[in-house]
Amino acid sequence: MMSAMSQPWPKDVAGLTLRYPSAAEIEDLLAFRNLEPVNEWMLRTHVEPTAFRGEWSAVATSDTDFSCAAILDGEVVGMGFLELTNGMGQPGWPQATEASIGYIVRPERAGRGVATAIARGLLDAAFVDLGLRRVTAGCFADNLASVRVLEKAGMRREQHGVQDSWHHALGWIDGYTYAALATDRPDWRVAPSPTSGRP
Ligand SMILES: CC(C)(COP(=O)(O)OP(=O)(O)OC[C@H]1O[C@@H](n2cnc3c(N)ncnc32)[C@H](O)[C@@H]1OP(=O)(O)O)[C@@H](O)C(=O)NCCC(=O)NCCS
Repeated sequence: MMSAMSQPWPKDVAGLTLRYPSAAEIEDLLAFRNLEPVNEWMLRTHVEPTAFRGEWSAVATSDTDFSCAAILDGEVVGMGFLELTNGMGQPGWPQATEASIGYIVRPERAGRGVATAIARGLLDAAFVDLGLRRVTAGCFADNLASVRVLEKAGMRREQHGVQDSWHHALGWIDGYTYAALATDRPDWRVAPSPTSGRP
């Protein structure tokens, strides 16, 4: 079981606020979730709107889903995913000590460090607030922006899967798994204000 657990949101990270979205903000998230540039490298290439609203409405009361909206200057600019997982092990292994993370940035807001700030905030939430042991993230190897985000956030590439990932236009292509352990750093807390002028 987790060693300590406190509610991670809201959290100010490098100029962004990460928090649960209101009903109106869920509509803002939905407005860009199914755009073509967003779905180019997503595993779920379309999310049915009713299911999307239901999933996001349930987040604030979920014990396993700690996903969040990212707000910059009052505008919803992205979303972060943080879901508890069990990892693997022999019978009796401790449950819910891991999480998988992900992120989507509103296309007009890409290229300004938003995803990197979200990823850092998710790692802060996972290790500091939720007391987790390990965090993983997966991406297509060709999603160079996401690869860069995961490396900037301090995760390590642990797996290169050769043609392990199906892409609707490219067929079987390579995928990466990144991970970080709580013990990789003495402190995963992120500063609330931007240190480099971004986002
Ligand atoms: C991928 C995505 C999350 C990146 O968001 P972002 O806010 O632009 O990311 P950041 O600005 O924090 O960082 C992007 C980095 O990738 C780099 N980058 C962008 N495109 C690149 C490319 N084609 N080749 C190499 N590097 C690239 C940027 O230069 C930047 O690195 P730098 O700070 O060293 O210059 C965003 O484009 C997105 O939401 N895409 C659609 C959904 C998606 O793919 N999600 C991830 C699924 S695993």
